[in-house]
Amino acid sequence: MNTLHRIDGRLHLEDVALDTLAERFGTPLYVYSRQALETAYQDYSRAFASIPHLICYAVKANSSLAILNLFARLGAGFDIVSGGELARVLAAGGDPGKIVFSGVGKTADEMRAALAAGILCFNVESVSELHRLSRVASDVGKVAPVSFRVNPDVDPKTHPYISTGLKENKFGVPIAEAPALYRLAASLPNLEITGIDCHIGSQLTELLPLTDAADRVLALVDTLAAEGMVLRHIDLGGGIGIRYRDEIPPDLAVYGRELARRFAGRRETLLLEPGRSLVGNAGLLLTRVEYLKPGTDKNFAIVDAAMNDLMRPALYEAYHDIVAVTPRNAPARRYDIVGPVCETGDFLGFARDLAIEEGDFLALLSAGAYGMSMASNYNSRPRAAEILIDKKEIHIIRDRETQSAMMAGERLVC
Ligand code: LLP
Repeated sequence: MNTLHRIDGRLHLEDVALDTLAERFGTPLYVYSRQALETAYQDYSRAFASIPHLICYAVKANSSLAILNLFARLGAGFDIVSGGELARVLAAGGDPGKIVFSGVGKTADEMRAALAAGILCFNVESVSELHRLSRVASDVGKVAPVSFRVNPDVDPKTHPYISTGLKENKFGVPIAEAPALYRLAASLPNLEITGIDCHIGSQLTELLPLTDAADRVLALVDTLAAEGMVLRHIDLGGGIGIRYRDEIPPDLAVYGRELARRFAGRRETLLLEPGRSLVGNAGLLLTRVEYLKPGTDKNFAIVDAAMNDLMRPALYEAYHDIVAVTPRNAPARRYDIVGPVCETGDFLGFARDLAIEEGDFLALLSAGAYGMSMASNYNSRPRAAEILIDKKEIHIIRDRETQSAMMAGERLVC
């Protein structure tokens, strides 16, 4: 079901009118639909039901505690990339035994924290990291579960900044070198080989790169098994795209069938690390039109959200649909939608046709993933508040940041 809909023209998320929400809590305001989050998770569960699997939500997509808690209660595991994300998952009630730890730069402190928590595995991305993990685990008297992130060198056909599985990318170890690395891992103290991992990129709109990568990884798993290295899980990463504009994202049911065919008769558990596809279309960003600034070349609508609230347009020229919360019965004009930050790159959308006046609210759609989690305080702008809608219920899941919170921890030099 579409949780975003209009009643008498007024935009609603579930049973809540977004204009009243914006008036009550102020803008910029992130708003999420509980039903959309749960449905997205259940779509994954259903698509992969025939394979023993664990969905490890990629925390970086949206690391707000209430959202992590919601997925934890649905049984999700988590893909983390920092000690901060580990702390968040634990604070949100996530099961440490379902956490995979990815990332090219894990520090010794982060390794110690993850070992103390008892995570499912470290997705190791280099030889140096493997040696460090062995040393740290020995120091604390633990055995670290190891899975290598292999780089299958397939082109995910997405934006270059978010493609990660090509050999020129910094991520993972080359797939051809993996057997030697597994042998090395088997020979080092305090390590236990548990799995294999790959993640080729984000916002993928084609299935073929994903199934190609799966085939390459499965072939490697069989080579390792022939050498007596039997793995418990195969992690195929995240990356499934969503519709921002007119993309046609891969059908999860088809992906599920493709993988079910490949996993038939296998013993390993399938792990997936979806981020965007679980949260992206479950959230939006509400903003108020502060000024309309007509020009000779173009018109600007200056809104109270900016690149610090939603960085994707500035960073990737990403497209987010922008709609009026309560459309006016007037002819539309063409606007560039820009924020108050002092950067030419501070835009949220170009050439959008809208019938709006100053004081109106706009909704930036598909903002649930990599929106709030990438927000910053640039221009000393406090970060937005977040609301979770559950039918008629309104939950404030994060207060608007205060100016004093923003300056907490800073000191003058006397
Ligand atoms: N696993 C690993 C190891 C990853 O690096 C990522 C995302 C994911 C899983 C989740 O991928 P997803 O299912 O969300 O595609 N900030 C960018 C996206 C960066 C993605 C980084 N890695 C954006 O706003 O589009």
